[in-house]
Amino acid sequence: MLHAINYYMILKEIVRKTRSYRRFYQEKQISTEDLAQLVDLARLSASGTNRQALKFMIINEEEKCETVFPSTAWAGYIKEWDGPAEGERPSAYIVILGDKEISNSFGVDHGIAAQSIMLGASEKGFGGCMIASLKKEKLRDDLKLPGRYEILLVLALGYPREKVVIDRVENNDIKYWRDDNDIHHVPKRDLDELIL
Ligand SMILES: Cc1cc2nc3c(=O)[nH]c(=O)nc-3n(C[C@H](O)[C@H](O)[C@H](O)COP(=O)(O)O)c2cc1C
Repeated sequence: MLHAINYYMILKEIVRKTRSYRRFYQEKQISTEDLAQLVDLARLSASGTNRQALKFMIINEEEKCETVFPSTAWAGYIKEWDGPAEGERPSAYIVILGDKEISNSFGVDHGIAAQSIMLGASEKGFGGCMIASLKKEKLRDDLKLPGRYEILLVLALGYPREKVVIDRVENNDIKYWRDDNDIHHVPKRDLDELIL
């Protein structure tokens, strides 16, 4: 007998596996077409008053990636680690910009767009990390961005080279950490704690 497809379970699995990845197979390229398809998911996503003021810069050339990387900061809780080393850095970025000729405020649109892109990236076999900790002025200069665009978020993307697991939050400690086998642990609070 055929069972109805349980799309909730499929969606939950995609959300579950869409973790933040910070180490990649740098030599494995991501095509411009794949990245444009991810931006298309952002295009279809919700937008406050439907202004759709976000613009997206696709970066996947080696030289351009080298330009972006120094403006990004990684894994603040892992103090002994300075971010991905040469060879394990992202092979692509999507820079999410706010177009100030369309709007002066972008609300939570970039967060929504980012999650749509990251979910799609997971389904394509990529992984990545949203990066808000940025040297925005340096990045603006390096990318020669016109003043009308505000840098909102950078999505670092690549083929993941690390294992990430979800743990339960114990003793209210939400800090992610790495174990002796280099596995990255992300504590998530229980559902009971979230729902009031
Ligand atoms: C808006 C936003 C900004 C973030 N900025 C950074 C960042 O600058 N650097 C970084 O390493 N991770 C950043 N992260 C990733 C978070 O640290 C990560 O989501 C958190 O540790 C939980 O892990 P998970 O994404 O696997 O659930 C950011 C996440 C979000 C949602």
